[in-house]
Amino acid sequence: MENLIQLVNKIQRACTALGDHGEESAMPTLWDALPSIAVVGGQSSGKSSVLESIVGKDFLPRGSGIVTRRPLVLQLHKIDEGREYAEFMHLPRKRFTDFAAVRQEISDETDRETGRSKSISSVPIHLSIFSPHVVNLTLVDLPGLTKVAVEGQPESIVQDIENMVRAFIEKPNCIILAISPANQDLATSDAIKISREVDPKGDRTFGVLTKIDLMDQGTNAVDILEGKAYKLKFPWIGVVNRSQADINKNVDMIAARRRENDYFSSTPEYRHLASRMGSVHLGKVLSKHLETVIKSRIPGLQSLISKTIGELESELNRLGRPIAADTGGKLYMVMEICRTFDQIYKDHLDGVKPGGER
Ligand code: GDP
Ligand code: NA
Ligand code: MG
Repeated sequence: MENLIQLVNKIQRACTALGDHGEESAMPTLWDALPSIAVVGGQSSGKSSVLESIVGKDFLPRGSGIVTRRPLVLQLHKIDEGREYAEFMHLPRKRFTDFAAVRQEISDETDRETGRSKSISSVPIHLSIFSPHVVNLTLVDLPGLTKVAVEGQPESIVQDIENMVRAFIEKPNCIILAISPANQDLATSDAIKISREVDPKGDRTFGVLTKIDLMDQGTNAVDILEGKAYKLKFPWIGVVNRSQADINKNVDMIAARRRENDYFSSTPEYRHLASRMGSVHLGKVLSKHLETVIKSRIPGLQSLISKTIGELESELNRLGRPIAADTGGKLYMVMEICRTFDQIYKDHLDGVKPGGER
């Protein structure tokens, strides 16, 4: 059986491929119904670092100022063996094995849409990474929340970013990865502020605490990590990412993961929490959670998908056959994916019937 997350990944990609197909298409509704995980937080809180740690690869543009200016939809696909590679949806035939080139392409593709101005755009970039070292997961990187516009940016940018982030995370199917730096007061955390607004009970928010290694001497994050300072439904997860000095020295991501584990298991205050800290643990927790959420949504998704298949069929009929290869091909592709989902749903039903075999 195909992994559910991989299947939802395919539907998401198909939705985007059809994105330019117009309002009449049923795909945007379907996209909104699919669960995904969005990363939110203030500028420099460590969002990109957390994403890179989960992936175990160095591939995101970084620097001061607003570097992430378009949503990046990052789909991780676990492969059994072989060399890691990446693909962008806007470059379907190109396989990247050099992750520095991936970084450059994200940056170039951002500029293509925003015209090299420092403005933002809500049109996502879709990137898939295939690797033996990842868990199946879809993550959306969003521009960092900021308080002031800088030189060359319109005053409205502060509000524009907030609106874009809110539009993503207010959808009930969005799982929020709220990033707060430990070296700042949690009460001032942009991530907590905005996630509390859209998810007051913390039912779909995962709190991630970064920069634990940068806290003032004599202070620690135990109260936060034990959920005493700010309670969420899910346990807080602390991480130690690479520092800027590590990045400059090109400290390997895998070595950084190992060092992070050592940090938690060898620091007396955190030792009792070590098994549920760190980016590897974070990736596993998120993948498991995403799968649970998808399973719980299968019946709803199923009826939406049947409806989508119906609408796509009539759209194909209306266009007449044979159709322009491009549009027709994409529609057929989506229908195929929807049918696979349909089949999995039926298998799932068989599995849960009393006496049914799993
Ligand atoms: P973003 O703007 O939220 O995407 O933040 P980045 O991931 O680009 O991180 C901003 C800066 O903080 C970079 O120089 C990182 O190296 C540094 N940083 C992020 N997380 C940590 C951490 O856990 N520990 C340390 N020491 N530095 C970190
Ligand atoms: Na940054
Ligand atoms: Mg960033």
